[in-house]
Amino acid sequence: MDAGFALPRDGTEEDPVRLGVMISGGGSGLAALLRHQLKQPCCHQTVLVISNRSDAGGLRHAKENLVQHSVVPIPPGQDPEARRLQHEREVHQLLVASNVELVVLSGYMRILSPWFVERWKGRLVNIHPSLLPSFPGAHAHRDVLAAGVEITGCTVHLVDEGVDTGPILAQQSVEVTSDDTEDTLQERVKQVEHELYPKTLDLLCSGRITL
Ligand code: GAR
Repeated sequence: MDAGFALPRDGTEEDPVRLGVMISGGGSGLAALLRHQLKQPCCHQTVLVISNRSDAGGLRHAKENLVQHSVVPIPPGQDPEARRLQHEREVHQLLVASNVELVVLSGYMRILSPWFVERWKGRLVNIHPSLLPSFPGAHAHRDVLAAGVEITGCTVHLVDEGVDTGPILAQQSVEVTSDDTEDTLQERVKQVEHELYPKTLDLLCSGRITL
C-alpha cells in the first residue's frame, strides 16, 4: 500500500463501516448514497452528515433519513488559517465522537488542511466532477467547456495534501455535446456520479481496493 494511506477496515452487513458525509450544497450525491445504502445489504452506513453551511439543501436528506447531522460554520475572526484550523478541529471532534471510520466528501467545497488530511489519510475520499488530473479546482465544468474537450467525467479519489490530487480509485467518462452549458453538463455528470460513488464505496469498504 502507498505509504501514509491507511484504508478503512472491511465492513459487513452486520457491522458496516461508519461513514461521515461532508456536504456544502444541494446534496444530490448524499441522497443517492442514502438510497443505495437502503436498497440492499450494504457494508457501509452513513452515521453523520456535516455541512459547513446552514443553508445547504442536502441537510434535508439527512433529516428525512433520520441521520444525525450538524452544521459547523466557519468561525469568525481575522486570520483565515486560524479560522480554517478551528473549523476543522470542530469537524474532527464530531467525526471522532460519532465513531466515524471513513469521511466521504460529497460536494464539500472547502480545501482541507494538511492537519486534517494527516488525521484521516486513507479514510478520506472525494468525488470530483472531471477526469482528474484534468480540470481540478472549483469550476471543472466551466473549464471543460472553455477547453473544448469532447469527453469529461468524474473521479473518486483518496484525498492527500494537494488539491484534487490523491490516488484515483475510480473514474467514468461522460460525453460533452456541442450544445452543453455548465448546467446541462453538471446534471449529466451528476447522474454518473450517483452510481459510481456508492459502488466505489462498496469496494473500498469491503477490502476490494488496494493501493
Ligand atoms: C458534485 O458534482 C461533486 O462532484 C462536486 O459538487 C457536486 C455536488 O453536488 N464536487 C466538487 O466540485 C468538489 N470540488 P450535490 O451537492 O448535488 O451532491
